[in-house]
Amino acid sequence: MVTTENFGSFNGKDVFLYTLTNKGGDVIKLTSYGAAIVEINVPDRDGKRENVTFGYDSLSGYLNGDLYFGKVVGQYANRIAKGKFTLDGKEYTLAINNMPNSLHGGPTGWHSRVWDGEVLEGTDYPAVKFIYHKPDMEEGYPGNVVAEVVYTWTDANEIIIDYKVTTDRNTVVNITNHAYFNLHGAGNGDILDHELMINASAFTPVDPTLIPTGEIRPVEGTPFDFRTFHTIGERINEDYEQLVKGGGYDHNFVIDIPGEVIAEVYEPAGGRVLQVITDQPGVQLYTGNFLDSTQTGIGGKVYNYRSGFCLETQHFPDSPNQPSFPSVLLTPEEPLLTSTTYRFSVR
Ligand code: GAL
Repeated sequence: MVTTENFGSFNGKDVFLYTLTNKGGDVIKLTSYGAAIVEINVPDRDGKRENVTFGYDSLSGYLNGDLYFGKVVGQYANRIAKGKFTLDGKEYTLAINNMPNSLHGGPTGWHSRVWDGEVLEGTDYPAVKFIYHKPDMEEGYPGNVVAEVVYTWTDANEIIIDYKVTTDRNTVVNITNHAYFNLHGAGNGDILDHELMINASAFTPVDPTLIPTGEIRPVEGTPFDFRTFHTIGERINEDYEQLVKGGGYDHNFVIDIPGEVIAEVYEPAGGRVLQVITDQPGVQLYTGNFLDSTQTGIGGKVYNYRSGFCLETQHFPDSPNQPSFPSVLLTPEEPLLTSTTYRFSVR
């Protein structure tokens, strides 16, 4: 079941809040502002339901708050070095909003737009589709681009996110969802005790401005080896140059076998489990190193330093400038179709 309510308005457009309830009575909430996930209310092993993602009670929270909680990020998720790339022999210049680079599609990227929302009828599970029509050259990116995102909330407590992106001329796209998670419940302490597994044998080291150097480094023997479970906190403060540069984990992992469960997180006290499934080639592990207690979210909960983690499924950062990385070229001939699932359960 999906119910729709008004969530205010922005730039003359109404914004809506969608509440999706599955057969088990578990609830997620979405908003058309930024095509964002607002709440994910799932039980722990004792059946106690709690919201496990960062969000705000009101639209004003989103307008004044952190830019990316739960949002769809585009046209290019993560960083493009110095805000420049060349495509078909022409150089494009983007806004520098994360010195000295462009971050997450620029200050008025897709996360800051009101999308058109539509409750899908006749589907097996509650589902909402969001569409954003990006005009040619908005935020410096070529192409009239249409982004469609369908969220489906299954009876197995899976959020399936299906993305489709089309363009009328060649462009570059990297689309993701930027949800933060805390399996204790959002705002209930840090995530350092969460046990994490990522099926990735390599990661992409970064320079001091968090731009990949181009190296694909094996995780073997490093604090980035999550091929078996380690708590997020176990090695996060080690004096390993990449952890120092990132202020913790803030890195793209090279997924071994896209299409399968590529990551799993377990919170031992309450027993909640999050599995991530994606066909994308990379995933950004970000451990909330820039959170600083200035954000007050749902139910008055404050989001402190390292109190949330992100697993942003994606193409590698700065791919337009890195010929050895998988291509992010989008052409009019072939739409980008990609899917990511966040699956919640308990152990
Ligand atoms: C992440 C990125 C971080 C930071 C964060 C937003 O995707 O990797 O460096 O910018 O978004 O605060």
